[in-house]
Amino acid sequence: MEYSSQQLIEIGDRYGAHNYKPLDVVLTRGEGVWVWDIEGNKYMDMLSSYSALNHGHCNHEIVKKMKEQLDKLTLTSRAFRNDKLPLFLKKVCEVTGMEMALPMNTGAEAVETALKAARKWGYRVKGISKEKAEIIVGINNFHGRTITIISFSTEDQYKDGFGPLTPGFEIVPYGNAEVIQEKINENTAGVLLEPIQGEGGIIIPPEGYLNEVKKICKENNVLFILDEIQTGLGRTGKLFAWEWDGAKPDMIILGKALGGGVYPVSVVASSKEVLGLFNPGDHGSTFGGNPIAATVGIAALDYVLKENLPERSRKLGKYFMDKLFTLDNSVIKEIRGKGLFIGLELKGPARPYAEKLKEKGILCKETHNTIIRFAPPLIITKEELDWAFKRIKEVF
Ligand SMILES: Cc1ncc(COP(=O)(O)O)c(C=O)c1O
Repeated sequence: MEYSSQQLIEIGDRYGAHNYKPLDVVLTRGEGVWVWDIEGNKYMDMLSSYSALNHGHCNHEIVKKMKEQLDKLTLTSRAFRNDKLPLFLKKVCEVTGMEMALPMNTGAEAVETALKAARKWGYRVKGISKEKAEIIVGINNFHGRTITIISFSTEDQYKDGFGPLTPGFEIVPYGNAEVIQEKINENTAGVLLEPIQGEGGIIIPPEGYLNEVKKICKENNVLFILDEIQTGLGRTGKLFAWEWDGAKPDMIILGKALGGGVYPVSVVASSKEVLGLFNPGDHGSTFGGNPIAATVGIAALDYVLKENLPERSRKLGKYFMDKLFTLDNSVIKEIRGKGLFIGLELKGPARPYAEKLKEKGILCKETHNTIIRFAPPLIITKEELDWAFKRIKEVF
């Protein structure tokens, strides 16, 4: 039996928990920047699954490698070794300039891993007293949805009804390095930040902020940890967003686009001093680092470098932002972004605009009620951006 979009929406709403409020479009096919709903309508994907689709939908090179691996070996768990994981870890270290890596699946798991690593380093290397380790994070952060991670969220809704929460986090205003200096004490193990706050609404910190925080961390023997799950792999116009400030972290967290838009792949990369502290049994994941994930991860990294997606994002991001600046509508409060990571902040609710853009064939989603994020796959062309702008202009 063929189902209509409306029927599938009803079935989904009847049997699925309502932890999302998606646009009512039921997609069935995707290629590059384009997706099709089951009625055959074509849309441009301007969200890219929150930057997980930097490579575009069904990227042929990545899908091909994944299919080959699917016929060979899919899962070993970490009880046994497989022939793809070592090469993935090596590639991650080469690309990030780190010494060791630890694979997981989702972004939240990788953030949890980084927090565990930072705490362990705090106790074993820095000498923090038992159970006293603290990690500093920014107001308005988004690092995932586990209980520990929501414990340091500043969004009430994320925490409401989910306590008791995990202690050990100090929350400071984002973009102000001085407060970090003030809050650091002998129990501080790490500072965890997004280089640009994505879910927070494309919040770009002042120039030099990351570098200043890095310096403060170094002077105080504190780990400088960057969550590049959304900003990494070319999204902001550099391979990693930290490059804008020259502030290489002590530990980097990657996810989303590391899975090439086809599979959940995440990783934490750092020094031997930090990740070398893990002993067998300390931490793990049944699927983390499986041969498919490793194959896809290598293919995703290779593609970003081969196609120079960071440069593409930088150039096309500027081109598109310049066009957006020509929009003449008093509802627009601010347009900000780096590369193809762009936020359009409105003076009122953004959802009606997202709905209107959908009618015109552009899929995007509001964040924090008043902000529309434009983050298309980085393989997008200038002509496709022109196509999008024409419709955005009509809506605004
Ligand atoms: C910066 C950042 N960290 C972590 C996550 C969580 O990733 P996941 O949804 O794969 O758990 C996200 C997801 O939006 C994110 O943007």
